[in-house]
Amino acid sequence: MAGKGTERMKGCFAVVAIIVAAFGVSARAQSLPADYWQHPLAAQGAPPSAWSEQERSLKPEDCGVCHADKLEEWRTSLHAKAFSPGLVGQLLTFDTEEARSCMNCHAPLAEQRQAFEAARRKGRGHLSKEQGLAAAGNSCGGCHVRGYRRFAPPQRDTGAVGQSDPAGPHGGVFRTAEFEMSGFCAACHQFPRDQAINGKPLENTVVEWQASPAAREGKSCQSCHMPDRKHLWRGIHDPEMVKAGLTAEFASDATKARFRLTSTGVGHAFPTYVTPKVVMTGVALDGAGKPMRGTERQHVIQRRVEFVNGDWVERYDTRLLPGQSATLDMPWPTSGRVRLWLEVHPDDFYDHDVYDALTRDLPKGGAPARLIAEADHRAGESRFTLFETDLVQPR
Ligand code: HEC
Ligand code: HEC
Ligand code: HEC
Ligand code: HEC
Ligand code: HEC
Repeated sequence: MAGKGTERMKGCFAVVAIIVAAFGVSARAQSLPADYWQHPLAAQGAPPSAWSEQERSLKPEDCGVCHADKLEEWRTSLHAKAFSPGLVGQLLTFDTEEARSCMNCHAPLAEQRQAFEAARRKGRGHLSKEQGLAAAGNSCGGCHVRGYRRFAPPQRDTGAVGQSDPAGPHGGVFRTAEFEMSGFCAACHQFPRDQAINGKPLENTVVEWQASPAAREGKSCQSCHMPDRKHLWRGIHDPEMVKAGLTAEFASDATKARFRLTSTGVGHAFPTYVTPKVVMTGVALDGAGKPMRGTERQHVIQRRVEFVNGDWVERYDTRLLPGQSATLDMPWPTSGRVRLWLEVHPDDFYDHDVYDALTRDLPKGGAPARLIAEADHRAGESRFTLFETDLVQPR
């Protein structure tokens, strides 16, 4: 994990050891092999000799020949974009070991590491068409294939688990209920508890979820992020998803307008990571309905961390736990009109901390600097607003 001595801040806000077999994964006959998420993953080995080229392939496009709906959904997800310019721009400055530690979560297959390392040796690691399978990021095989065996959730119609008929597709698939459990996501979405900053690891999503009403009601990560087993994984980058998790209420009395925001449908802290910044904002309007300079009021919802002298420090944590509310009050201006809204900056920490620091430190004009510039641009573009409402003073 970043934070030891002279090590500089890394762009994922932390490098971590991976927790294996935690969170409800037990050693039953019908469970995943204990080393399913043991990083680094082992190479697949030799494919069954009777398999066609297509069935041997780990490329998502090839899976998609037969699983077209899954390919189409996955393509639009951030899992498909995990081998991003912001990641690769940093990998190119790391040694092999360090780059591998990042790839454990961003492109986890051994075959992806090999492909990226081969491109890098040729000095072409920055080109996505040279990265081969690595460019697929968090792809089908990373979650479903080990030693060329296919692992899957219980059969959709029958609920059957265990090994299916070896005469069937893929030589039979191994089905287990663990695919439907939150523990499945922990390998990449939960940092070890001993790596805490002010009592909480930088990624603490599964622990937050365990304490939530959603968990008590039997809703897993998949219930909210993969409804009907869809491979979309919408999160804070998606306005509709964020809106679905929140309730905004507006009220006016004689002295003020009030914006109240409650986390009503998020299964963990809102937001769960230290990278987004959410801001409840209000501004006075003039008689013509135009925002008046200098009248803005804000309430920031964020877990703000900083990397200071080689250590992470938490400045504040104003995130909303499930059920919690925040309020912003605006006194009435003489016009008696105000505007209130929510600003969501999904990549604020990257935009303003990580990429600015890298831009300062990286040699100008090189491939890493160009990739980071692209990432910085994208991070600035991802912001959006929700719930914008104008209110008038009651007379
Ligand atoms: C040549 C066609 C073909 C290709 C290519 C293919 N599959 Fe399949 N796959 C199938 C068929 C057919 C089934 C059985 C579907 C069923 O029983 O419902 C299946 C089943 C599965 C299942 C189990 C789903 C269930 O029904 O529970 C998973 C998971 C899976 N495939 C993953 C993959 C992945 C990942 C790839 C690429 C690495 C891939 N498949 C490539 C044809 C294919
Ligand atoms: C334990 C899993 C894990 C490891 C290890 C990891 N990341 Fe990430 N990374 C994530 C997750 C989950 C996100 C999405 C949440 C977020 O935006 O912070 C992410 C997001 C990012 C992003 C922003 C999104 C993007 O792709 O542009 C960058 C850049 C990034 N990581 C770089 C790195 C680097 C560099 C390393 C190695 C030093 C690394 N990561 C190691 C899990 C991991
Ligand atoms: C981040 C991990 C992850 C990735 C990447 C991923 N899957 Fe899945 N997949 C899952 C999980 C988890 C489930 C079960 C979800 C549930 O039961 O709610 C699943 C279910 C499935 C099923 C069974 C669907 C059904 O209706 O029964 C198929 C087939 C499948 N995935 C194929 C694919 C293919 C093809 C890709 C790549 C295009 C892919 N998956 C990428 C995690 C993943
Ligand atoms: C009750 C529904 C629900 C459950 C359960 C749930 N989430 Fe979420 N999740 C949301 C909503 C809504 C958002 C969008 C608002 C936000 O970003 O918090 C979200 C956002 C996210 C994000 C975006 C990053 C961020 O900072 O918020 C990630 C990553 C995520 N969830 C992962 C998980 C994982 C992993 C689990 C299981 C441990 C899980 N979620 C359980 C509803 C849920
Ligand atoms: C192999 C590691 C890995 C696994 C397993 C994994 N994720 Fe992710 N996930 C990531 C990474 C890395 C990102 C960030 C991708 C990026 O933007 O670079 C991510 C992004 C996401 C996002 C989008 C967050 C946002 O910023 O909007 C959601 C939601 C999410 N994951 C949910 C899940 C759920 C639910 C599961 C379990 C079914 C899961 N993930 C399993 C690595 C993983």
